[in-house]
Amino acid sequence: MSESTNLPPNAHRLPRTNQLEGLMTIIRDKTTSRGEFIFYADRLIRLIIESGLNVLPTIPKHITTETGEKFQGVGFEGKVCGVSILRAGEAMESALRECLRSVRIGKVLVQRNEQTGEAHLYYAKLPEDIHERFVLLLDPMLATGGSAIRAIEVLLSRGVQQEKIVFLNVLSAPEGLNVMYEKYPKMKIITGWVDRQLDQHNYIVPGLGDFGDRYFA
Ligand code: URA
Repeated sequence: MSESTNLPPNAHRLPRTNQLEGLMTIIRDKTTSRGEFIFYADRLIRLIIESGLNVLPTIPKHITTETGEKFQGVGFEGKVCGVSILRAGEAMESALRECLRSVRIGKVLVQRNEQTGEAHLYYAKLPEDIHERFVLLLDPMLATGGSAIRAIEVLLSRGVQQEKIVFLNVLSAPEGLNVMYEKYPKMKIITGWVDRQLDQHNYIVPGLGDFGDRYFA
């Protein structure tokens, strides 16, 4: 799959606006300082979170306005929480909190075992009622999909329904998107941009390097 080919049916990419291209250019640039990287990555993450909220279902909500008029509006259908895949996913938490006041955010730490290549779960702290919630799963980079698959296994084992997971990321590789669709076709994915491919070290190319290192190091 190249940049111009179609995405898997469960994946949605942000519209390629001038703003999006400009923000992506800054965070890809190796001469961008850490401070600038954080600022512009945060801007991008905010756009992605807002798009994620757009795919959550709503139900009718009838209210009365200050003028005394009835207004037929909507509210989110159910409870929502975030789950960040550590460490890079933590970079997406503050934008989610800015958009959803007092949102509960769980955390999952998955790391690849260098010997076996398997993604190992080290830690999971999730809301107890997560099985009743829509889950916004946060990880800025979707490369092979190994960590995300392990995190999703944990969510499913806690009773979350696959169709209630929305996976949000800044940059993805076609390989990761295809694997996610094969394994979890009912889960939605919102990504900022789809790059060309993975390199031999499973970095996304052209990519932006290690997101966690550039944001937190
Ligand atoms: N994670 C990153 O931070 N960068 C990549 O290119 C792939 C995974």
